[in-house]
Amino acid sequence: MNAPGFFLAVDGPGGIGKSTTVAALAQQLQQAGHAVHATTEPSSSPLGQVTRRLANDVRGPALALLVAADRNHHLATEIRPRLATGQTVVCDRYLPSSLVLQRLDGVPLDFIRAINAGIDLPDLAVILTASADTIARRLVTRGSHHRFEDDLGNVQRELDLYEQAVLVLESMQVRVVSIDVDSVTPEGAAAAILHAADIPSATVPPTAPSPNPDNPP
Ligand code: TMP
Repeated sequence: MNAPGFFLAVDGPGGIGKSTTVAALAQQLQQAGHAVHATTEPSSSPLGQVTRRLANDVRGPALALLVAADRNHHLATEIRPRLATGQTVVCDRYLPSSLVLQRLDGVPLDFIRAINAGIDLPDLAVILTASADTIARRLVTRGSHHRFEDDLGNVQRELDLYEQAVLVLESMQVRVVSIDVDSVTPEGAAAAILHAADIPSATVPPTAPSPNPDNPP
């Protein structure tokens, strides 16, 4: 638990539309009155930028460690301070991505779990999913962004690993919701996430009190 804020992670295979869905979700959360901070992993810090830049060349446990180091720094400098002030933090990729991408890279699950042992768990982990055909089609249309998306033969394996990741996260007492985006728009997916998240209104900062006419400032 990350009271008083709410921590939402959004993950899913490359090409599924995470960034667009996160943008729509941030907008809908704002419209619902929440103070929102949208962020990504790797983070925008220098450590995150280096991690993103090197992720095509650095592989296996070395990339797993870089990503975990960035995650710890991201938590300390950006996520926890926002949660502490009651904001809703929406993170585009978090631990679930490590449970999938690092395994695609041949890193054992126990190692991934061990190096992520100290991190804060999200209040809700959202896994976007779709059929392998839909994802492959989207990847062909938009093109690969990094080596994990180069091989369309990886798509089914990535989907399978996300299914396994759901079980791992649930065994860690993380609330997980999987959203099939095969036939919904990013706005529709965002609305489904908002509904599933059921964020307590206590995380919405109180509006400024109206001036008291009997006691003017
Ligand atoms: P993307 O979010 O634009 O798809 O790129 C994320 C990059 O960071 C990609 O190279 C994969 C890498 N990455 C991991 O390997 N593991 C992780 O847990 C995260 C968050 C990112």
